Amino acid sequence: MDFTVKSSTPDQQRSACIVLGVIESRQLSPAGEQADAAAGGFISQLLKRGDLDGKLGQTLLLHNVPNLAAERVLLIGCGPAKELADSHYRKIIAKAAATLNEMGAGEAVSYLTDLPVKGRDNAWKVRQILESTQYGLYRFDQLKSKKDQARRPLRKLVINVAERGELAAAEAALRVGKAVAHGIKLTRDLGNLPANICTPSYLADQARALAKRHKSIKVEVLDRTQMEKLGMGSLLAVARGSEEPPKLIVAHYRGGPKTDKPVALVGKGVTFDTGGISIKPAAAMDEMKFDMCGAASVLGTLAAIAELELAINVVGIIPATENMPSGLAIKPGDVVTSLSGQTIEILNTDAEGRLILCDALTYAERFDPVAVIDIATLTGACVIALGKHASGLMGNHNPLINELLDAGNDTGDRAWQLPLWDDYQDQLKTNFADMANVGGREGGTITAACFLSRFTKKFHWAHLDIAGTAWVTGDKKGATGRPVPLLTQFLIARAAQHGAKIPAVKKVARGR
Ligand code: BES
Ligand code: MN
Ligand code: ZN
Repeated sequence: MDFTVKSSTPDQQRSACIVLGVIESRQLSPAGEQADAAAGGFISQLLKRGDLDGKLGQTLLLHNVPNLAAERVLLIGCGPAKELADSHYRKIIAKAAATLNEMGAGEAVSYLTDLPVKGRDNAWKVRQILESTQYGLYRFDQLKSKKDQARRPLRKLVINVAERGELAAAEAALRVGKAVAHGIKLTRDLGNLPANICTPSYLADQARALAKRHKSIKVEVLDRTQMEKLGMGSLLAVARGSEEPPKLIVAHYRGGPKTDKPVALVGKGVTFDTGGISIKPAAAMDEMKFDMCGAASVLGTLAAIAELELAINVVGIIPATENMPSGLAIKPGDVVTSLSGQTIEILNTDAEGRLILCDALTYAERFDPVAVIDIATLTGACVIALGKHASGLMGNHNPLINELLDAGNDTGDRAWQLPLWDDYQDQLKTNFADMANVGGREGGTITAACFLSRFTKKFHWAHLDIAGTAWVTGDKKGATGRPVPLLTQFLIARAAQHGAKIPAVKKVARGR
C-alpha cells in the first residue's frame, strides 16, 4: 500500500475518490465546505435531506458530484465534534479505510486531517491515518490456500494537509508512520503464525533475516550448550520438557554513537505455552501460540527504528522456548539456580515466563544498559485487571515509567501503572529456595513483576505486561502488534533528546 502527502483543494483534486468528514449533526468539515461550495451546495442539500447526519461510523458514497474533479466523494460520519478524542479519530480512519477497500476505487485522497482532534497537530493525524489504515487493512492469509481479497483493494492513499507550509512536517510523520506500520506488521505476522511453524529456531531465523535487511542490526543466537555454560538454569528448566531447542536471541541495533549505552528490550518468546506439568485447560489453549508476542514486538520495534535510522543504540534480547509437559519436564517443587545465582522453587510450571525472563534480564547486565524494558504476555491476572485496552506497567524507576506512559498516550498504545510496592514481595517467600515462582492469586500481575524485580537491581527497569493487549480474541482473533507503537515512540523521544531530526509529538494530558 502506497501513502503520500499533498496539499490541494478538494474541488480540483482529480482522483477516483475524495474522502470528507461530516460532523454530527450534518456539519461539513472545512474541506467539505470547500467542496460543497464548488458543487453549488450539492452536498449540503443531501445532508439537509437527511441522507447522513454524521453519526460515527456512517458513510455515504456520492458519484458525479457537480464541478468536482474527483469521480466519487466518500462522506464519513465523525460523531459530535466535542467528542473528537484520539480513539474516536482512529475509529473514523478505520471506517474510511474499510469502506474504501470494499468499494473498489483503488485509490483515494483523504481530507480527514482537517477534523479537529483535541490537542493534536497535522503530523499526528497523518501518522494516525497511516497506521490505522494499515492496521485495518491487514489480513493474515499466508496459510490459506485461497485468499479472499477485496475485488479492487485500496492500493494508494494520498493524505491531504490544508497548508503547503505543513507538507514538510507531514512528510516526516509519514516516514515515521510507515516504519511503525512495518514493525507492527512484522509483529502481527509472527504472533499469528502457529507454534508448529513459529518455533524458537524460526524466531532466531527471523532475527537473522532482519539483520540481513538492515546493516545496522547484528544478531547472535545462543544455543542450549552455550546457555548451560553460562548457567541459565532457570531458562533451561522451562526448555527441558520440549523437543524444540531453546534459543537466546540477541539483536544489536547500532544507530547512535559507539559510546552511548544501549536501551535493552527483553521480549518473552514462549512459542507455545501448554502450562507444562501444571497443564492448562483445553479451552482457548490455541491462543498460547501468542505467548511469544513480547519477542515479536522486540523484533518489530527493531525493524521500525532501523528503517528510521534512529540515532540510538538498542539491544533486543529474546529468550525463546516452548513450555511443554514431558518425562523430562520440570515438576512443581523443583528448585533451580538462575544465572544470577538466586535459587527458585518452581511451584507452578505455568509461571514460566518469569523463569525465562529472569535469566535474560541478568544477561542484559553485560551490555551496561541505560534502561531495560521487558515485554511479556506474563499474567492472565493482567487481563482481568486492565482488560484489552491497557498494558500493565511496573518498574523500579519512575522517570522511565513516565516516559513509557507518555509514549503510550501519544500513540494510543496505552499502558497503565500498577504499584510495585515492597508489601507484595512477601508473597514470593518459600521455605525451600530464595523465592517461589508464584505468589498466590492476589495481585498476580504485581507479584510476577516482584519476581522480575529481583533480577533488575543493577539498572533502571520497566516491565510491560501485554497479556491483554498483544492479541484480540473472538471473530477478529489475531495479534495486534502492540506495544510496537509505544516502544518505537519511546525510542524516538529518547533519540530526540540527543538531537535527532524526527519531530517530537506535542504532549497532551493523559487520560480518557
Ligand atoms: N502466558 C501465560 C499468561 C497468559 C494467560 C496470558 C492467558 C494471556 C492469557 C503465563 O505463562 C501464565 O500461564 N501465567 C499464569 C501464572 C500463574 C500460574 C501464577 C497465569 O496467569 O495463570
Ligand atoms: Mn504459562
Ligand atoms: Zn506463558
